[in-house]
Amino acid sequence: MGGMRKTIVRLVAVVLLPWAAAGSAADAGKHLGVASCAGSTCHGSTRPFTDSRIRQDEYFTWQRKDAHTRAYDTLLSERSQEIAHKLALKDAANAPRCLVCHAENAPQAQRGERYMVTDGIGCEACHGGSEHWIREHTAGYKTLADRSAAGLYPTWDPIARARLCSGCHVGDNDHPMSHAIMAAGHPPILFELDTFEVLEPPHWRVDAGYVERKGPQDPARNWAAGQVEGARAVLENLAGPRFHGGAFPELAFFDCNACHHSLIKGGRARPQRSGGLPDGSVPLADSQLVMLIRWLDVVEPAAGRKWHDQWVALQAASQRSSGEVQSQARNMLVTLDSVLVPKVRATTLDDAQLRSLLKSIVAEARGSHAGDFSNAEQTAMAVSVLTTALSERGAEQVSDGLRKAVDGLYAQVMDRDRFQPDSYRGSVEKVAVALGLARGAAD
Ligand code: HEC
Ligand code: HEC
Ligand code: HEC
Ligand code: HEC
Repeated sequence: MGGMRKTIVRLVAVVLLPWAAAGSAADAGKHLGVASCAGSTCHGSTRPFTDSRIRQDEYFTWQRKDAHTRAYDTLLSERSQEIAHKLALKDAANAPRCLVCHAENAPQAQRGERYMVTDGIGCEACHGGSEHWIREHTAGYKTLADRSAAGLYPTWDPIARARLCSGCHVGDNDHPMSHAIMAAGHPPILFELDTFEVLEPPHWRVDAGYVERKGPQDPARNWAAGQVEGARAVLENLAGPRFHGGAFPELAFFDCNACHHSLIKGGRARPQRSGGLPDGSVPLADSQLVMLIRWLDVVEPAAGRKWHDQWVALQAASQRSSGEVQSQARNMLVTLDSVLVPKVRATTLDDAQLRSLLKSIVAEARGSHAGDFSNAEQTAMAVSVLTTALSERGAEQVSDGLRKAVDGLYAQVMDRDRFQPDSYRGSVEKVAVALGLARGAAD
């Protein structure tokens, strides 16, 4: 009876919410451990198979090249011990505050015999506990729905995939990142789906067979999905229990540079932005919210205006009370689910739209509201991903000039402590010129 009920719950969760977060009903099976996947005729080959649908060297790629392998080991490092010490934690490697993101943190009852916390973020952290599908999945599935129904987490779906990554890479209520952790020495985190997928690096091969099984892949859609799910994590944080009343709610939800300025001379670190708040105020961190205004502007301008107005209202609420922030964040989550998610799923930008999107992002960055470091980071990643998408489609002759300008923009955001707004704006200007935007076309 229990098993039956569980199965029904799982089916319902998967069919209605194929993007349900890992750790929910969709991930009900035991985690059997990386060792269960790593056999040489399974996923542990040292080189890709040529006569198989999949590469079969996934374990090798993960083990040799993927930062997730070392996520747990990082907690044993001197840097982690220092962070732990400042937070008055005995041991980072045993602290739930760290393990939520640095390990495959399956609930005790779901840890199989070969599960090892020391494996870091293993296969089942992303693909779901394999107890119920490990045997049958080797035969493959006819449809994606069959695949989800078996209990595999829908990593192939860009929205679900982005939600999986952003939980840890933006931080959400299940994976809380706090100002205390960062002030103790943790690097600030950031996220953009397409960039992070390339960096991981992929242990999957997108060929014709892959597209047939899993649908067409589109970097521009990945980018939009990453923005949507990054926004969800941020808004759920703002709507959630960590954004409480009191003079100072969780500081990690605010724009870092409003309080922290670069120590290197070069003027005020933060030109004003953020929904028209007066100079000198402390705005909410919004780099995961604003790119969606640009995307919607291209897809459906009226929806873009609405998201823009909601963002302005959110920033205004942040100057009044935490209750108002929470209720405005909830309003935006409704728009996210009812408008943005379906649109991202249904939309493939054509070449002209992709070009408009790129230009609109650059025009915004060049305006007087150039934004803080995190906004600059998102701008650089967006420009890079969308330019590459255009050139991969063969739609844009990406000139040497444009490529150099994009590289130059990227270089501006490599080091937060050396970020110089004036120099950044110079690089934005070069991209704008390379894209043929008329001078002063912004604002
Ligand atoms: C369970 C939490 C978790 C999930 C889920 C997760 N990551 Fe990570 N990721 C981490 C942690 C922690 C690190 C840092 C590992 C280290 O260096 O110790 C990391 C590192 C990375 C890095 C290397 C970053 C760098 O600066 O070198 C990339 C790229 C990355 N993740 C991409 C992804 C993508 C893409 C997804 C989704 C498909 C994803 N991650 C899902 C926690 C997670
Ligand atoms: C919300 C998820 C999250 C939490 C909570 C978290 N981390 Fe991280 N951590 C990350 C991610 C993601 C990265 C990789 C950042 C990147 O490169 O983009 C990282 C990177 C690090 C690094 C730098 C690794 C390197 O190779 O440079 C250290 C050290 C670290 N974390 C230690 C800790 C400790 C100690 C704790 C607990 C006090 C902790 N982390 C809690 C997500 C998290
Ligand atoms: C950080 C998250 C993450 C981890 C950890 C991870 N994967 Fe994946 N995996 C993905 C994503 C994202 C995809 C691409 C989307 C898809 O095809 O489902 C993928 C795809 C795959 C595929 C499908 C390839 C295809 O052509 O259909 C296999 C097989 C696979 N992973 C096996 C593994 C194995 C084995 C491990 C552990 C050694 C592992 N993965 C660890 C995220 C992850
Ligand atoms: C409302 C102002 C405010 C905001 C916003 C803020 N901080 Fe802080 N931060 C502080 C204060 C105050 C301290 C000193 C705390 C102490 O001494 O214990 C501090 C300390 C730190 C430190 C320790 C080193 C230092 O410079 O003192 C780091 C690192 C840090 N913050 C990072 C961040 C990051 C990253 C963000 C954005 C996600 C952020 N802060 C947002 C006010 C802020």
